[in-house]
Amino acid sequence: MSELSDKLGLSTRLISPATERGRGRRPVNPPIERASTMLSDDPAMMGSDRDGPIYGLDGGTAARQLRTVLADLEGATHAFIVPSGLASVTVPLLALLQPGDEVLCTDAVYGPSRRFLTRTLARLGITARFHPAAWTAEEIAASFSARTRLLLVETPASLTFELVDLERLLGLCRDKGVLSVVDNTWGAGIALKPLAVGADVSVQALTKYVGGHSDLLMGSIATRDPELSRLIFEAIEDHGWHVSPDDAWLALRGIRTMPLRYATQARSALKVAQWLEQQPQVARVMYAPLPSSPYHDLWQRQYDGAASLIGFVLRGDRAAAHRLMKALSLFGMGYSWGGYESLITNDTSQLAWREHQPPLEGEIMRLHIGLEDVDDLIADLGRGLHAV
Ligand SMILES: Cc1ncc(COP(=O)(O)O)c(C=O)c1O
Repeated sequence: MSELSDKLGLSTRLISPATERGRGRRPVNPPIERASTMLSDDPAMMGSDRDGPIYGLDGGTAARQLRTVLADLEGATHAFIVPSGLASVTVPLLALLQPGDEVLCTDAVYGPSRRFLTRTLARLGITARFHPAAWTAEEIAASFSARTRLLLVETPASLTFELVDLERLLGLCRDKGVLSVVDNTWGAGIALKPLAVGADVSVQALTKYVGGHSDLLMGSIATRDPELSRLIFEAIEDHGWHVSPDDAWLALRGIRTMPLRYATQARSALKVAQWLEQQPQVARVMYAPLPSSPYHDLWQRQYDGAASLIGFVLRGDRAAAHRLMKALSLFGMGYSWGGYESLITNDTSQLAWREHQPPLEGEIMRLHIGLEDVDDLIADLGRGLHAV
C-alpha cells in the first residue's frame, strides 16, 4: 500500500482498487474467468507465474484482487481464501499444529469448529481443551499447559456472546509462546482488527458480511507473519483448496458495500435489542452494544462497531420458542447471518455440546438483523412475542 492509501478511510480503501489507473480500457469489475487450464505462448514461460496464474488452482483475477483487499481490511501482509468459513478455521490449525500439541479454546466456540477439534485433530494426535466461555484473559492464560501450542479465540463467542479482553489475552499468549488464531467473523475486519492487537492469524467467514447476500460460502485467513503465511499457503496447496471464480467475484462485489451494510444493520440491531429488553417475555438480551450488557465497557474499548447478531433468552419452553418463530412473517428461519435479510433461530439444543453449561432462564434465541426497515422488524417481533 502506498503512503496515500494508508491515510484513506476504510470504505475508500475497499473501493479504490477498482478504479486504480494505468490498466487501460476495462470494465470496473474484473471478468469472471472460469479456468482449470491456462495457456502460454512460450514453452519457457509455461512454469513461470510472471505472466499470471499457471493453473486454475492459483486463482484468477477476481480471487487475486479479493485477497489484496482482504489483506488491507485485516491489516495483514498476506490473505488467503478458502471455500468456507469453517475451512478458514481448520486450515491454520492443520498448518500450525503437530501431534502431541494441545489447542485451547472457548467452550462456546462455533459448533463445527469444535467438531473438527474433537474429531479430526484428535485423530492426528492433537488434543483440544475447552475453557468456560466467561473466563477472563488471565484465567485463560493461567490454564495454559506445557503442551498448549495454540489458542483459538472467538469473541464474542457463539450463541451466548461472551467477550474476552483480546489485547490482554493476546499479550499473555505472546509472553507464554502460545500461537493465536482469532475467528473475526463478528468483527468482520471493520469493528475489530485482531492482527493490530497481537493476533498471529485472523480468520473470517466471508460467507457472512463480506458476501452479504446469502449466496456464497467462503473464508479468509490473514496474517503478518511470513513463516505462518508460508505454512498456511502450503496447507492450502497440499489440500487442494480452491475458491470458484464466480464466488470470488461475488465476494469482491460484496466487500465494496460491506461497511455501509454493517453499520446500517448494527444501528437497526441496537434498536431491536433496546426494544427487546423492555418486553416481559424476554428474560435477558445478549448484545454488547447495549449499555446494560456486562460486556459493554469492554466492547466500547475493543471494538469500533458491531455485528447485527443478537442473542436473547425467551421466558418459556421450546414450544413457546416455536410459537414465536411461526408467528413472525419478516424473519426467515435459517442458520446463517451477515446477509441482507433478517433471520431467527432457536439454539438451546446446541448448548448440549458444551462442558460448562451457562445458567438459562428459558430458550436461547438468535436474531440476525438485516436491511429491512427496523420499525417493521420490531412490529413483527411484537406480533411474535404476543403469540408466545
Ligand atoms: C463464528 C463463525 N465462524 C465460522 C463460521 C463458518 O462459516 P461457514 O458457514 O462459511 O463455514 C460461522 C458460521 O456460522 C460462524 O458463525
